[in-house]
Amino acid sequence: MKNQQDKFIAEIFDPAVSSWTDIEKSVVFIEHEEFGEKAFSGENLAKDFQNKQNIVVLLKSSDTKAVIGFTYAEPTSKKETAYIRDTVIQKDFRHKHLLGILMNCMEEELKKRGYKYMERKAAVANDYAKNISKHYQGRILEQSEPRYTPYLDGQQVFFRIKL
Ligand SMILES: CC(C)(COP(=O)(O)OP(=O)(O)OC[C@H]1O[C@@H](n2cnc3c(N)ncnc32)[C@H](O)[C@@H]1OP(=O)(O)O)[C@@H](O)C(=O)NCCC(=O)NCCS
Repeated sequence: MKNQQDKFIAEIFDPAVSSWTDIEKSVVFIEHEEFGEKAFSGENLAKDFQNKQNIVVLLKSSDTKAVIGFTYAEPTSKKETAYIRDTVIQKDFRHKHLLGILMNCMEEELKKRGYKYMERKAAVANDYAKNISKHYQGRILEQSEPRYTPYLDGQQVFFRIKL
């Protein structure tokens, strides 16, 4: 019997070899299920997922290959620093310790591409900011006070993390 985590894999989405249209429906569903009218639009996601400078990681069911989560990173103007733009797991698959599978894959790929730092914002309300403080302790170079972010209607914390 496979344990829960063997049932899921993280994979880099490479627009040169895979098609956005194959994953579009799942990605847009996951984004809209969480953020509703504040979600990134399908057009925006299509542009970001197919931008070769970005790093996109998909969380998939090992058996069905269905996409059940994703995260993506973009280059920034700061030296060796990437910005994690979005991280979402489909609601039915949360609280199963799958975040680590997704983010470990992202962090390995960031390092392979020469990045030394990642930055991101994380929500306070769903404990993501708290989980980040705990998970990356010792590697957090900057952490802001929680700040109200109108586009998400909530408090977010900014982090700069050493990879
Ligand atoms: C944020 C989100 C992706 C987390 O997924 P999740 O299924 O709730 O989280 P998981 O159960 O897999 O992970 C939480 C655990 O993983 C640990 N963890 C492992 N790797 C981690 C990492 N890279 N970063 C943070 N926590 C990590 C945490 O410490 C926590 O451990 P604990 O439960 O033992 O305390 C999910 O809640 C979500 O999609 N939320 C809505 C969108 C959102 O807020 N996105 C973030 C941008 S603000």
